[in-house]
Amino acid sequence: MLKDKKILVGITGGIAAYKAADLVSRLCKQGAIVYVAMTKGATEFIAPLTLRTLSGNPVYIEMFEEPKVWNVEHISLAENVDLAVVAPATANILAKMAAGIADDFLSTVLLATKAPIFVAPAMNHNMYHNPATQENLQVLKERSVEIIGPGTGFQACGTPGDGRMSEPQEIIEALERYFAQEKPLQGKRALVTAGGTQEPLDPVRYLGNRSSGKMGFAVAQALVEAGAETILVTAPTTLPTPKGVKRIDVTTAMEMYEEVMAHQSNMDVIVKAAAVADYRPKVFAEQKMKKDGSELQIQLVPNPDILAELGKIKKKQILVGFAAETENLIKHAEGKMQRKNVDMLVANDVTKPGAGFGSPTNIVTFLFPDGHKIDLPQMSKLDVGRKLVEKIVEILEKRSE
Ligand code: CTP
Repeated sequence: MLKDKKILVGITGGIAAYKAADLVSRLCKQGAIVYVAMTKGATEFIAPLTLRTLSGNPVYIEMFEEPKVWNVEHISLAENVDLAVVAPATANILAKMAAGIADDFLSTVLLATKAPIFVAPAMNHNMYHNPATQENLQVLKERSVEIIGPGTGFQACGTPGDGRMSEPQEIIEALERYFAQEKPLQGKRALVTAGGTQEPLDPVRYLGNRSSGKMGFAVAQALVEAGAETILVTAPTTLPTPKGVKRIDVTTAMEMYEEVMAHQSNMDVIVKAAAVADYRPKVFAEQKMKKDGSELQIQLVPNPDILAELGKIKKKQILVGFAAETENLIKHAEGKMQRKNVDMLVANDVTKPGAGFGSPTNIVTFLFPDGHKIDLPQMSKLDVGRKLVEKIVEILEKRSE
């Protein structure tokens, strides 16, 4: 599984650095091509010569030392590796990664690479449980960094607890799982919409909704994981773009409509997770509207229903819609599925705790045109996205039978 894979092993300054030698040795035995980048701290625990001998490649430590090969090394390494794994990963490197700090060779490569990144945290259990570290790990998870471990056991500081680096064999297994992953949507193109559109009233105000964009971003990530070339058309949100996704930012429903229509004919799959405003103000006031104490009436005109338009023109595409409801969930969702001619509808009651706008989790029901339904328990939006992708793959497989 690991044969000929180019793997960057980042080693940072913790006592578990000695185990990194074993990790590098095992990777090389399996035929991987291993490059090692160490922090200065790591060199206090293990000699670079050991890693150079085991990997058969130069070891990178300093940013500005004499080049080992004649190109911009941190960039060429960043571009050429298939995967990067930081083991051990101290609280410090996790914090730097979360903050985007690049102040030595390893942190710079990690910031520059588009390859998947795995980290095996290793630290004292109080440091591990410190909210700063937990928040940094959360940020990294949201950016698709894979966290391996940590394990529990006797720690170098003399007390038992969690925070020990996972054993090299476990780390290897995590990497093998990644390379073994099926990419059932390889060669397919997908478009996802996300977020809540904003319909301007005047230069400072707009009509909007409570959508955070989290569900659509999670679907885009799941599609990329499954190998689909993915475009994400998103209304304003503060969310980071999932790795490997092409992002197009829009503000209004009309802009979303135009972007979706411009790309739709090339797509195999379209997932409309966005909360699109059904109406927009008829008039945009060029100057800030002033109050005069009397009632204000704003006239609204309908926006195009993007999903319904797609439903009318679709040929072989798989079209997935969402229905955010506050009552009569299934009845309303069934109506939308038919009206909009979709192949699958994801329905959720946004009033349930643990579901809906802003929540990191969701509770959804999948509905299909043949009448069957799947109720999913509460799970992270990314897991909902992954389940949705499984169903898309099944529909595609059935069609090609
Ligand atoms: N949708 C769309 N364009 C619109 C409105 C909705 O593409 N102008 C899509 C959404 O992205 C979602 C689905 O249609 O996939 C259902 O959206 P929802 O807001 O739940 O339904 P509406 O059709 O707007 O119906 P209502 O507001 O009456 O519940």
